Amino acid sequence: MKDNSRRGFMGKAFGGVAAVGAVASLFAMKKSWDPLPSVKAAGFTTLDMSGYKENELVTEKWRGKPIFVLKYTSEMIAAMDESQKPRIISVGEASYLVTLGLCTHLGCIPSYEKDNKSFLCACHGGTYDIVGNVTKSPPPRALDIPPFTIKGNTLVLGEVGPEYLEMKKNGLTL
Ligand code: FES
Repeated sequence: MKDNSRRGFMGKAFGGVAAVGAVASLFAMKKSWDPLPSVKAAGFTTLDMSGYKENELVTEKWRGKPIFVLKYTSEMIAAMDESQKPRIISVGEASYLVTLGLCTHLGCIPSYEKDNKSFLCACHGGTYDIVGNVTKSPPPRALDIPPFTIKGNTLVLGEVGPEYLEMKKNGLTL
């Protein structure tokens, strides 16, 4: 009787250890199936555009690079001239600047001058306007627009959509 209960206890104990081991090895296997962080970073980034505040620059990340997202106010759009408007990205009712946050001169990260509604690159004094066009050299071209597509209220960075193709065709980005 005593022996039997001892055997029962040992059986349960071994069973418990085996179950924990099985869960641990399943977890390890799942981990090995998941893409490496570097592969994830090389893919797409989906931005929910409903969370941005007007005239507040947010820096997102895509493929390890900073991405500027700036939601325009209606006053900012009204102040733009016609040559600036083709760089606007519209998602639903709202309008945005979405560019790489890297200066096209030597790759520094420009800062957003909220009051002047412009970007300043402190490395060599280059400036950009509210849509990312160069207003003072040395940057050789406007801030680059990453490949994107619009899906409902989201913007998928890394996926080429018709709006991006149109911008590229018109020479608005590389
Ligand atoms: S890196 Fe921006 S102006 Fe030179």
